[in-house]
Amino acid sequence: MRVLICHDTATAACRTADILCDAVAARHGAVLGLATGGTMEPVYALLRDRLAAGTLDLSGTTTFNLDEYVGLAGDHPQSYRATMNRLLFDAADLRRSRTHLPDGAASDPATEARRYDAAIAAAGGIDLQLLGIGGNGHIGFNEPTSSLGSRTRVKTLTAETRAANARFFGPEEEAPRYAITMGIATILESRSCVLLATGPGKAAAVAAAIEGPVSAACPASALQLHPSATMILDPEAAADLRLRDYYETVHPGGGEAPL
Ligand code: PGA
Repeated sequence: MRVLICHDTATAACRTADILCDAVAARHGAVLGLATGGTMEPVYALLRDRLAAGTLDLSGTTTFNLDEYVGLAGDHPQSYRATMNRLLFDAADLRRSRTHLPDGAASDPATEARRYDAAIAAAGGIDLQLLGIGGNGHIGFNEPTSSLGSRTRVKTLTAETRAANARFFGPEEEAPRYAITMGIATILESRSCVLLATGPGKAAAVAAAIEGPVSAACPASALQLHPSATMILDPEAAADLRLRDYYETVHPGGGEAPL
C-alpha cells in the first residue's frame, strides 16, 4: 500500500487528479471506476479544468461508478447519475453510453446489481478505481460488517451514513435508506485503486484502514489485500497514523522518493 501524505487538501486532490489522468493517458479505452462524495468535488473540478484546457481527453474512456441510491431515478438531482453528469460527464467528450452507474430505479435492484457486476466484467474490468472513505470506514456503500467477499448488491445504509448524506437533500426530503454498491470483492478486482481522504473527520477511519487489522469492521482495511492500492491523504486525515514518519520518508510531500 502506498501512503501519500500531501502538504494540504488542494495538493491531495491534485495528486489524485494526476493519477486519474495518467491512467487515461496510459491506455486509450481505459476503464475508470469513479466515486461520488464531497471529497471528490475538487478532483472533478480539476478534471473539468483540464478538459476545458484540452489537456485531458476522455473520449475513449469507459466509467463505472461505485454506487447509486435505490429509489432515485437518474433525473433526480441527488441521484449519483445526476451528480456525475453535473460534476464531470456534461463537461467531457464522453458518450453517455460509456458512463455506467447502477440503475437506482430498477424494478428489481438485486437483479440490477448482478447485471452491473457482469457489465464491469464484460468491459474487461476496471483499470483504476477511485475511492472515498466514510467516517465509519466504508468504501462505496459497503458499511461495516460487509463481507470482504461481497459482490455488487443492495446494502442498507447506516444511520451515520444517512446523517452524513442528509446535507445533500432538502429539509423535507428523507435521505435514501438503501443503495446498490459495488462489493468489496468487486473493488479488489480493480487493477489499481486510489483512495482520497481529507479532513479530520476521516483520521480514525484512515488509521484503521491502513494500520488496523484487515476486518469487515472497517471495510477500507480490505485494501491492504490489494496489490496496487494508493492512499492519498491531507495532513488532517493522516493525523492518527502511527507510522506517519515512515510514510513521509518513503514519499516526501506525497511524491515519489528518489531511490
Ligand atoms: P464524503 O464521502 O467524500 O462526502 O466524505 C465519502 C464516502 O462516504 O465514501
